[in-house]
Amino acid sequence: MSSIARKLRRENKTVGFVPTMGALHEGHLSLIAEARQMSDVVIVSIFVNPTQFNEKEDFTKYPRDLTADAALLTDYQVDYVFAPEAQEIYGENFSTYVYVENLTETLEGAARPGHFRGVSTVVTILFNTIRPDFAFFGQKDAQQVAVIKRLTRDLGFETEIVVLPTIREESGLAMSSRNTLLSPDERQGASIIYQGLRDAKIAFREGERNALKLADIVRQKIETEPFARIDYVAVVDSETLAPVDKIGDAQVLIAVAARFGLVRLIDNIIINRKQ
Ligand code: PAF
Repeated sequence: MSSIARKLRRENKTVGFVPTMGALHEGHLSLIAEARQMSDVVIVSIFVNPTQFNEKEDFTKYPRDLTADAALLTDYQVDYVFAPEAQEIYGENFSTYVYVENLTETLEGAARPGHFRGVSTVVTILFNTIRPDFAFFGQKDAQQVAVIKRLTRDLGFETEIVVLPTIREESGLAMSSRNTLLSPDERQGASIIYQGLRDAKIAFREGERNALKLADIVRQKIETEPFARIDYVAVVDSETLAPVDKIGDAQVLIAVAARFGLVRLIDNIIINRKQ
């Protein structure tokens, strides 16, 4: 991959990079389609990164199907699929990790200790290997987006981070590789997350500016679904992830994590004054 990337740079080709863990769905495909629009060469990585899983069972259960993924990509004019083995990324005696302070202790970071250290480390390795002009991420993983933007700035990568909207199933459930692990009833029930977020957005549009009240609207809606176990509903600044009391001019995220059976799902919406 390094030597291909070097050759592409010599040829002055712009490179669009979509990092994934496979089990590709329409969310990934929307990133790939945008990468295709913006870049001469599109590279997709498929790597279930062991260091970002804090539970071994979550790692082993994570859906993997390289053949199905490759078949899906044939319609998308992807130039290279980079699907390394773990030892190619983490060589013998691997000891260097990237840790982004402040943004990684709360929300997903609190629920999944070490998760963002794993994400930041693998993204750094992939960016160093590929040196993309553009890298594409989905808004569904809002905290990951904030962390990657921070590390890109802090470590001086010349990669532009492009963030695209969450793609949803017809029910409103955010597309996620983990959705395939839900039972049909849980999958149906999980659409309650988006219904809660939508209710909060409506309340915001109607003038509600109190963060606690907006979070309560989301929480109450989700609690109507017997399958749901809420982990958190948080109202935070979308860049710093600091909790917000009152919605002002800064862009704010309402972020949710909830369990349906054994599957933990996250989702969020952005609200700001212009809406
Ligand atoms: O969002 C993901 O799929 C992963 O966290 C990423 C960015 C590919 C790093 O492993």
